[in-house]
Amino acid sequence: MSENINPAAVPTAQEADPVKVLAGRHVLQWHITHRCNLRCKHCYQDDFQVEMNHDELFAVLDKYERFLNERNLKGHINLTGGEPLASPHFYELAEEITRRGMTFSILTNGTMITEENAARIALLQPRFVQVSLDGGPDVHDAIRGAGASAAAYRGIDWMKEFGVRVLVSFTAQRNNRFELAEVARIAAKHKVDKLWWDRVIIPIDLDKDHLMLTPQQFRLLAWRSGRLTGKTRRADGTSLVTSVRGLQFLYCPDSGTYSCQAGRNLLIIKADGDMMPCRRLPDIIGNIKDGEIGPIVDGSPVMKALREAGIPEACSGCPHAQKCRGGSRCVTCAKTGSRFGKDPDCWIKGRADA
Ligand SMILES: C[S@@+](CC[C@H](N)C(=O)[O-])C[C@H]1O[C@@H](n2cnc3c(N)ncnc32)[C@H](O)[C@@H]1O
Ligand code: SF4
Ligand code: SF4
Repeated sequence: MSENINPAAVPTAQEADPVKVLAGRHVLQWHITHRCNLRCKHCYQDDFQVEMNHDELFAVLDKYERFLNERNLKGHINLTGGEPLASPHFYELAEEITRRGMTFSILTNGTMITEENAARIALLQPRFVQVSLDGGPDVHDAIRGAGASAAAYRGIDWMKEFGVRVLVSFTAQRNNRFELAEVARIAAKHKVDKLWWDRVIIPIDLDKDHLMLTPQQFRLLAWRSGRLTGKTRRADGTSLVTSVRGLQFLYCPDSGTYSCQAGRNLLIIKADGDMMPCRRLPDIIGNIKDGEIGPIVDGSPVMKALREAGIPEACSGCPHAQKCRGGSRCVTCAKTGSRFGKDPDCWIKGRADA
């Protein structure tokens, strides 16, 4: 282990669980670069050039540390992009995060993880490395480009070789919605620790290729996911397939009710400095280069509205309403234009439907 690593930052077995590690923490999703070696069909990015330089990255880290200290919060940083491993400052930044005793994870397409990179990453003790797999080889490559699947599998294998916990993320779209079981099979073969999935989000007027799931398609996938959670349960009670994101708990009662964190314990910082409550909502609340995080967050009407939003009228009478509070706001916003209604993919009938 590098001498600069804070031993307190080394994860315990419990803390290393990719799902549990985020619970109770403020999460910064930090897009350190928008550069990427791939051009996935569904990607929400519209620029692939901007990235933070060394001084900008370290200034953001200082601000985030001050924000956490002022509010007595425990923080967790998801280093993402673009492709975070394409940033020339990635390792230095990750080492500094660990040295300061903060926890972090890496969200990557997996294609740039060589043996050497895996060894360096393992020394930095990320809580987990999330690798995107969007289907079996043919479907994944159709979405992400030729050779992307084989390179991602190699990356996963190197991570596992060095003892890093790997989480696979599957972004569900119309053209890969039957692929979850195949991704689970591949993930098990490559000794992945967890597989979770989420719905693709594209504002409806921009969804020219109709990638977003219909409510019926989503419901069927959620049902299949619940079954896969049962089928992939291990002797210690954990499952490979988790059903923990928006509304998935409805077919997986032991996964715990999901609660959208936009406006609450989640903050996005993009490589151009723009700050957002969620990367999949259209709202920019300010720019990190213009000040400290606390005043920007507190002064944002959107953050306030998201934080204080009540339970949608259409959800009244639902037994999950207190925690679920309307499902995924990003889906609602993309499909309806409003952040505050009931998730249009939800099949539970509230009193308003009676
Ligand atoms: C933006 S990528 C950055 C990290 C890395 N380049 C990767 O592909 O995993 C993070 C995750 O966002 C997902 N994503 C990209 N565009 C999306 C969209 N329009 N809706 C939902 N998820 C999206 C990707 O599939 C990926 O799993
Ligand atoms: S690899 Fe990630 S950042 Fe790059 S294009 Fe694909 S989804 Fe977007
Ligand atoms: S009715 Fe509303 S609160 Fe209940 S599960 Fe559906 S979206 Fe969540």
